[in-house]
Amino acid sequence: MADPQSAATSKTAQEDDIDLAVDETDDVDSDFVSLQKTLSQKRRAAKESPESRLQMAFPFPFAPNIRPLTVSDCESCVALENAAFPNPDHRASGEKFEYRLTTCPELSLGVFCTVVPNQAKGWKIETLASAKAVETDRPDGAVSVLLAHIVSTRACGEVVGDSDMAYPSDWRSRGGKSADVGHQECGQTIALHSLAVSPKLQGCGVGKMIVKDYLQRMNSLDRTDRVSLICQDYLVSYYERFGFKHVGESKANFGGGGWHDMVFTLQGSQKPTPGGEPEKETV
Ligand SMILES: CC(C)(COP(=O)(O)OP(=O)(O)OC[C@H]1O[C@@H](n2cnc3c(N)ncnc32)[C@H](O)[C@@H]1OP(=O)(O)O)[C@@H](O)C(=O)NCCC(=O)NCCS
Repeated sequence: MADPQSAATSKTAQEDDIDLAVDETDDVDSDFVSLQKTLSQKRRAAKESPESRLQMAFPFPFAPNIRPLTVSDCESCVALENAAFPNPDHRASGEKFEYRLTTCPELSLGVFCTVVPNQAKGWKIETLASAKAVETDRPDGAVSVLLAHIVSTRACGEVVGDSDMAYPSDWRSRGGKSADVGHQECGQTIALHSLAVSPKLQGCGVGKMIVKDYLQRMNSLDRTDRVSLICQDYLVSYYERFGFKHVGESKANFGGGGWHDMVFTLQGSQKPTPGGEPEKETV
């Protein structure tokens, strides 16, 4: 099957040729020429919208299913993380995913889509091989494929530090008890460690979808004041669009350093206390 992205590119190139082919000689009314150009640009802009790019990336209708991850999603998370982060030092390892999705799965989120193998012949995505059956014994063999993920832990500080990014080496034998590093159950900061969208779908609005959904979900949690993360400078403006504040350069050395601290303050939902007073103000 032809790659839908390259098909889109060649279509755009054809339309460029059509634009260039518009006769601009003096005997053609220049208003008409400029109207033709405007219409072509509008048609092209509509075709290049995130929504249409998303539909072009799938050979079937895109119907996302968004849910918290479980430890059984680890293999897909690792495949997605490896595909999304070009720098291996910036990726979370398989054991980190296992630790985080065992210790605090409620702080994670995944965007999935259902794929029926017969309808998706030749369609490739790095998480397909590890996708789980939607239902056992379903005749069409449909599987649920991970497209994007967010994985976090709780932290005590306002910004994410190296100890938050780490995990206790003996976590399997600790029985969920907190250690000096990694998830801090009493922390009021959500330390967002991994946000990844499959490269096949980047720029199609999937990142926006998962971040907005995630912030809404975290906003309704008790004893949670903020979502904090570290990012490279080229993503500062990306997070600012969601309302994160750029706090400054991070002290974290994870993956070679060069990070920036970003903090999103949660306003909480209006939760009536027994006395009838709201605990927090609404956003
Ligand atoms: C960063 C990432 C999560 C963004 O997800 P995405 O699905 O590609 O982004 P979206 O399509 O949802 O973009 C939403 C908007 O942000 C804009 N945007 C995308 N990347 C941006 C950037 N680097 N800087 C500023 N804005 C950006 C888009 O243009 C879009 O704008 P629009 O709403 O006006 O159309 C994704 O590209 C990714 O997984 N990258 C690799 C892993 C990574 O770097 N993760 C972040 C670690 S901190």
